[in-house]
Amino acid sequence: MIITNIFLKQSRRDKTHAVQVTPHKRSAVWGISNDRSAVWGISNDRSAVWGISNDRSAVWGMSNNRSAVWGQLGIILILLFFCAACRERVEPPTPYDIPIPKGFPTVLNIPADNPMTVEGVELGRLLFHDPHLCGYTGAAPDSLMSCATCHRRECNYDLGTDNPRFPNGRACGRTTGKPTIHNVMPLRNLVFNHEGYFWNGLISSDNPNPKQRTIEDIVLMAITADDEMCGTEAGAVAAIKADGKYPPLFKKAFGTEEITMDRIQKAIAQYVRSLVSGDTKFDRYLRGEEQLTPQELHGYVLFTTEEGADCFHCHGSGGSPMFTTNLFYNNGLDAQPADEHDRASVTGDPRDRGAYRAPSLRNVTRSAPYMHDGRFKTLDEVLEFYNSGVQNAPTISPLMHHVNDGGVRLTPNDIADLKAFLETLTEE
Ligand code: HEC
Ligand code: HEC
Repeated sequence: MIITNIFLKQSRRDKTHAVQVTPHKRSAVWGISNDRSAVWGISNDRSAVWGISNDRSAVWGMSNNRSAVWGQLGIILILLFFCAACRERVEPPTPYDIPIPKGFPTVLNIPADNPMTVEGVELGRLLFHDPHLCGYTGAAPDSLMSCATCHRRECNYDLGTDNPRFPNGRACGRTTGKPTIHNVMPLRNLVFNHEGYFWNGLISSDNPNPKQRTIEDIVLMAITADDEMCGTEAGAVAAIKADGKYPPLFKKAFGTEEITMDRIQKAIAQYVRSLVSGDTKFDRYLRGEEQLTPQELHGYVLFTTEEGADCFHCHGSGGSPMFTTNLFYNNGLDAQPADEHDRASVTGDPRDRGAYRAPSLRNVTRSAPYMHDGRFKTLDEVLEFYNSGVQNAPTISPLMHHVNDGGVRLTPNDIADLKAFLETLTEE
């Protein structure tokens, strides 16, 4: 009996190790083979399993007499019990390492209760693109909507002017047709943003409403909003449960097959945080791997000088390559800003009237339509605005240095160079 106990302790300790080493031999644990080493299984190197000795008598203890045989059977049964338990054991998910581009902040915006894992990101990717997430399992595909209906990969996770679902270029609710209050935002490098999400920064860690603080919260808001997916929490969970492919994926990501809204939110948020842009032509130029053309280089100089295009204070540069500060400015779109959902609606500060988050200019060639209300359909229209259309609003940012001239007043050649530089910020 004493020997048995020693064996059990030993086997408990070794079980994990041995099963991980040769999982394909797990069936042998169930005693299929006559080969005794196989019955005890897992490894042919018995000393590795038992950790005692290669001498069989030592392993089996005692001798060939009958009580020993019963003892052996007892051990087998107990071990089978433990091995059944170890069959249930779930491999922990693999930690997901965000590739941090050179020059980016190294402090990431990841809530402590939702660490990123490879399995979580993969599950989130499927859910993000799953049109049943709106909670409708019927057959009419037109009535379905996923996150990807509005955040389209080929459009830098923005809407894209060429999205046929929304003919007027403005996203709207699945069943209500109600337009979203703002243009869709690109979902890139959100994990590096600590200043707040949405055009006005409403979703941030200091929001008094605990349901409006994180990307996890945005997931549920998007599912239930009447100008977005028009679903319900229960409907979305039921629709995802109805798809047999999900339970094993939830188990891989979260340890059990249980499907809850909390887990759906977490997985999708992990996927959104994994969307990092850090390998454009300009990044390769910064890393010394590729050269810019003289035109692109001149555009870069214009971008980063006050006498030139003067963009860098709000949109970054080689020294701040996120190409946004993620801060809020009024860039002079309107003399009298009328939108009630601007930055001032969040801070209560009248000086924030008409201010919005400066979007990142990464992949900017793909994230049309532009600005919080999608007023510009092309990059050329945006550049013409900064060149000659800037309005002197009472709350305009002091960083819009050329407002008295109505803009930066560049030559057509300079505008073309600036555009060529902006194109180097787009991933292939
Ligand atoms: C009907 C179109 C639509 C759908 C569907 C949609 N979104 Fe959005 N999303 C928007 C709009 C519009 C905004 C900008 C909101 C604002 O600032 O007013 C936005 C903003 C966001 C942001 C903030 C980005 C930032 O940089 O601040 C995140 C994150 C996001 N959406 C994730 C999702 C997820 C996840 C889903 C699916 C669960 C989803 N969205 C579904 C339209 C949509
Ligand atoms: C004072 C800060 C500031 C300066 C300077 C500035 N911008 Fe902006 N930019 C913003 C803000 C804020 C927005 C969003 C405004 C809105 O949606 O109402 C924006 C929006 C944009 C957009 C639209 C992006 C999108 O995805 O919708 C582009 C493109 C852009 N800026 C390029 C430039 C260029 C090029 C320059 C230099 C000529 C420049 N900006 C100078 C603050 C600034």
